[in-house]
Amino acid sequence: MKVFNTEIQAAIFDLDGVIVDTAKYHYLAWKRLAKEVGIDLSEEENEKLKGVSRMDSLDIILALGGVTLDTASKVQLADKKNAWFLEFVNQMTPAEILSGAKELLVDLRKQGIKIALGSSSKNAPLVLRLLNIEKLFDVIVDGTMVKNSKPDPEIFLLGAKLLALPPSTCVVFEDAEAGVEAALAAGMKCVGIGSPAQLHKAHQVVPDLINFSFPVDSTKHILN
Ligand code: BG6
Ligand code: MG
Repeated sequence: MKVFNTEIQAAIFDLDGVIVDTAKYHYLAWKRLAKEVGIDLSEEENEKLKGVSRMDSLDIILALGGVTLDTASKVQLADKKNAWFLEFVNQMTPAEILSGAKELLVDLRKQGIKIALGSSSKNAPLVLRLLNIEKLFDVIVDGTMVKNSKPDPEIFLLGAKLLALPPSTCVVFEDAEAGVEAALAAGMKCVGIGSPAQLHKAHQVVPDLINFSFPVDSTKHILN
């Protein structure tokens, strides 16, 4: 675990796999779609899709199977995957918020730390609404607002810009390797949620947000 010691003024949260376990729904929907085009998508290969936009994810899957398609067919497949994903999402309730996530959001707000969402998902506003937590965010950046998806830093840099804070004062919470790389490329601190083997580039890696506390002193927000 690397140690860092920086004044933190904002926290930027990824959504899928950090606040709610929609990562499993993305996987199930992509696996079903991959099967339709004759590709068996393993859990290990799925790690490469995490944090990556819908169309980029489809391109990765097709490349795995050596399948080439025209744009219209790809759009059709991506829409199909999204319809299956939404079947899961529309069943969601606030009970599916991952343990510790809401507590951390509330605690950070109490400490005066600004909160942004930085998600590649175009469905992020819908998911936040279903979870009834959209009011906990000062700023929401989703997949409809950027050209480049993670590992490009655009999503997180836009979050900092909308919060009017320097990137160096932001800490990102991420479960995807592409997301950790995006945070680092943005010049931000990063807490990885998941396995150290996958997320070792993050400044700190924790298995989940249960009892995760943000170590601050009373005058400065210092994350150690
Ligand atoms: C990210 C997920 O948050 O959003 C990816 O980690 C997903 O798995 C991406 O592909 C885009 O999501 P959506 O909802 O716009 O298809
Ligand atoms: Mg994620």
